[in-house]
Amino acid sequence: MNTTHTTHTELSTEDVVRTFVEYYEERGHHRITGSTLLPPPGDPVLFTTSGMHPLTPYLEGRPHPLGRRLVNVQRCLRTTDLDEVGDSTHLTVFEMLGTWSLGDYEGQQSLTWGYDLLTGGFGIDPRLLHATVFGGDDQVGPDTASLELWQDRGVPVELTVEDNWWSNGPTGPCGPDSEIFLWTGDTPPESTPTGDDRWVEIWNHVMMRHRRLADGTLVPLPQRNIDTGLGLERLASLLQGRTSVFECDIFDPWRRLVPGLWPLDEPTLRLVCDHLRSAMVVIGDGVRPANTGRGYVLRRLVRRVLTVLWRDDSSRQLVDLPSELTRHTLEHFRQDVDMDAEVVRRVLVEEERRFRQLLERGRQVLARPRFQGPLGEEDLHYLHDTHGLPRDLVLTLRQG
Ligand code: ALA
Repeated sequence: MNTTHTTHTELSTEDVVRTFVEYYEERGHHRITGSTLLPPPGDPVLFTTSGMHPLTPYLEGRPHPLGRRLVNVQRCLRTTDLDEVGDSTHLTVFEMLGTWSLGDYEGQQSLTWGYDLLTGGFGIDPRLLHATVFGGDDQVGPDTASLELWQDRGVPVELTVEDNWWSNGPTGPCGPDSEIFLWTGDTPPESTPTGDDRWVEIWNHVMMRHRRLADGTLVPLPQRNIDTGLGLERLASLLQGRTSVFECDIFDPWRRLVPGLWPLDEPTLRLVCDHLRSAMVVIGDGVRPANTGRGYVLRRLVRRVLTVLWRDDSSRQLVDLPSELTRHTLEHFRQDVDMDAEVVRRVLVEEERRFRQLLERGRQVLARPRFQGPLGEEDLHYLHDTHGLPRDLVLTLRQG
């Protein structure tokens, strides 16, 4: 990524949060607190994947006690991006800066403030921005208001259909969105966001005016809302001129301590740091490893770390993780450091113990003559039902 797109020398992640929140507070927004990864009851997803989750009832018309303009920092977990973790822009647990207009101002105002904050407050060169706008489909017309706004500002626009429609699941609040991209190439900007992945999405502004019903039809929400979301670590790393989210300041202790403990190549280091950090936050929010639901997501994160760590050296153990990493992570996510640091350690160590036992049993069972040939569906079911060996574990053992 080039390092020349801002006039700032260095903004820490905390500076980015402060600048963002103050900018919106000056424009009449109230900061909401509360940011657990567990979505409110009735929400269709396992984890909070976006800043709007805790606000769903208010987007649907209930008056919010703090008014119609809100700003927040929300931690989110996305497993849909799991395969992308390790690239330059995706993390499993990340923080989203968000703003909301609950039936107050409209999209043009939201995009204007967004553009002014990026180019003014954060000093981004406007020539490195590109926007995308909803081009319309057979149910909802094109978003001409956003299109005109960007054209007035001289920002190039690409129209898309699916990429510019945002929803929080198959049913519920949704609407057309306008996304802002920043050029990260070393050459002058070229092509468009869908044509060149050096355009990195930094901010999504959703015109949240519709609700999708179970039969797929759209009905208008009682009020016209705006819901915006900006990935904090992504923006911070770009503003800091770093080549990936793993190099922004919040990963400093990880990059300092983990390589001394376990020598890992860069992709493995990224995966280990991402998954361990995510597991710590998930545990801090009260989730425990299990075979279903949220607990299964946690279990997979920890087991994936152990699988890659043990590929080279099976004596590696999580108990060796410096407590500074747990404390730094819990502190960053404003969790209860004193109480949770010990809990996190215990949960990780216990999960490691169970996984070692399971692997040991798996190796013994798979060594039986019956399993020497290729494994069919029936074998996989049998191994799961009779010996408690999950399919992915069996396949991993087979590869290893
Ligand atoms: N809810 C929108 C998103 O997550 C802002 O992209």
